[in-house]
Amino acid sequence: MANPSRFLLAGVMGWPISQSRSPMLHNYWFEKHGLAGTYVPLAIEPSGLRAALRALPALLFSGCNLTIPHKQEAFKIVDEVDITAKKIGAISCVIVRPDGSLSGTNNDWYGFVHNIPDFAPDWKADLGPAAVMGAGGGARAVVYGLLERGAREIRLCNRTHARAKTLAAEFGGPIKVFPWEERHNVIDGCAMLANATNQGMIGQNALDLRLDKLPKQALVCDIIYNPRETPLIEAAKRRGHRTVTGLGMLLHQGIPAWKAWFGIAPEVTPDLRARIEATL
Ligand SMILES: NC(=O)c1ccc[n+]([C@@H]2O[C@H](COP(=O)([O-])OP(=O)(O)OC[C@H]3O[C@@H](n4cnc5c(N)ncnc54)[C@H](OP(=O)(O)O)[C@@H]3O)[C@@H](O)[C@H]2O)c1
Repeated sequence: MANPSRFLLAGVMGWPISQSRSPMLHNYWFEKHGLAGTYVPLAIEPSGLRAALRALPALLFSGCNLTIPHKQEAFKIVDEVDITAKKIGAISCVIVRPDGSLSGTNNDWYGFVHNIPDFAPDWKADLGPAAVMGAGGGARAVVYGLLERGAREIRLCNRTHARAKTLAAEFGGPIKVFPWEERHNVIDGCAMLANATNQGMIGQNALDLRLDKLPKQALVCDIIYNPRETPLIEAAKRRGHRTVTGLGMLLHQGIPAWKAWFGIAPEVTPDLRARIEATL
């Protein structure tokens, strides 16, 4: 664990950053654990990312999270990138090592798979085919998580077909790519549907997806957390599906970050979830 007599520091770098709920999450945990420390929002322009990351050791930061638009650029800056971040193609968490070097990892997939049991304790990735909409950074974390948990069939649809094909080629394994126009049919027979596009996010249109072919017992997940419940989640609830909202993915990805930064495994509690949901 980090030196307990030291004021513990971590933060999130993004541009913009004011919308981030991460400071609320991590500062809740500092308080819960009675630790002297803080987690700060760091508004870092893309041109300043290198200098900002390189300053972390001198500032005695234990590490930081990265959000839009820094998750790819950080690859060129940190000293080591682990296999998970390489595969996902994005760094979500930087750890300052004792010698001052920086290592990059990605905990988004962990957040995705650990959030699901909070809503569906009996969930298993191999219950049946999983349909994933999207092929951006979030979708790559979702697919990685599903494969990690033993999914045997992933049906992938993305508006830009080539991007989905690239994802499938890079990941290998049981991923079948379908044209975007096929999305309404692709969900037929699926045990899970996950939206990893930005459709349904505040300021965006709802995901244009007809659910009539989705089996009633299928679990419907959205990784978007603002709004708290997307139109997809609302539509799925109306059809009687069990649903998984996106906030918990953000909350759970903080756990491995804390383990790496401070040697502590914090908890995602209903109280924490409710407090952050109240701000959405
Ligand atoms: N809960 C969490 O912890 C968490 C973590 C990561 C992301 N997210 C959320 O997930 C969402 C996606 O993030 P990201 O990082 O994956 O973004 P991204 O890399 O920019 O990918 C955006 C995805 O949305 C698709 N898309 C955009 N406009 C579309 C449209 N009009 N119709 C259909 N598809 C469209 C894109 O398709 P094209 O390839 O065709 O452009 C792409 O698949 C965001 O809302 C983000 O906040 C949540």
